Amino acid sequence: MAELEFKKPTDSDVHLSVVMHPEDTNAAGNIFGGKILALMDQAAYACACKHARSSTVTASINTVNFRTPIYVGDLVTIKARVNYVGKTSMMVGIRVEAENLITGEVRHSNSSYFTMVAKGEDGKTKPVPGLILESSNQVRRFVRSYKRKMEQQESMKNFQAESFHLSKDHLDWCKQQNVLVDDKLYEQAES
Ligand SMILES: CC(C)(COP(=O)(O)OP(=O)(O)OC[C@H]1O[C@@H](n2cnc3c(N)ncnc32)[C@H](O)[C@@H]1OP(=O)(O)O)[C@@H](O)C(=O)NCCC(=O)NCCS
Repeated sequence: MAELEFKKPTDSDVHLSVVMHPEDTNAAGNIFGGKILALMDQAAYACACKHARSSTVTASINTVNFRTPIYVGDLVTIKARVNYVGKTSMMVGIRVEAENLITGEVRHSNSSYFTMVAKGEDGKTKPVPGLILESSNQVRRFVRSYKRKMEQQESMKNFQAESFHLSKDHLDWCKQQNVLVDDKLYEQAES
């Protein structure tokens, strides 16, 4: 176990490349976002398992913004690297690129961060090796990931603490949006 105590981020790099097929498209002919999310999860899983050398589960995924459509015939490449480790969790940075195999044009589709947690054979969370940081980019990614983790924990706390009381102000505000509000709700609203 001693030699597994600290590992380099590059030790568990994963590059996953898949050509997109017609069965992965929506009615508009573009690739489903869910297809890409599944590939991202697979890459994050493989990367985290390589680092931990144990089974892992996906605990959370941060925001995913698709910047550009992906088409049938594109080669999608997913790059995964461990950016941060806690005690039992790892934050894996994911970058998705789509390459037009005919023209060679490469588009950055999205980047995201998956938090993966190591589990032992008993199903309990399990400590993971530490990370060796050798460049300022690696330090930047580690620090930013830690901040993301803290912000997520804070927002989860706030979400749990927050209770929603329906008010007339909420309903008035909703009415300014692109919705139809059932007026019966005013009877339930606090003034
Ligand atoms: C994620 C999971 C392992 C956390 O278990 P837990 O008993 O709450 O564990 P702990 O509170 O001890 O947290 C363990 C680690 O996970 C992290 N963690 C827990 N929930 C998290 C979340 N929602 N997002 C990010 N990190 C999380 C903690 O920060 C902690 O990290 P650290 O050890 O590096 O400090 C557990 O909730 C689980 O198994 N969930 C289901 C996962 C799954 O099935 N995913 C696939 C869905 S289809």
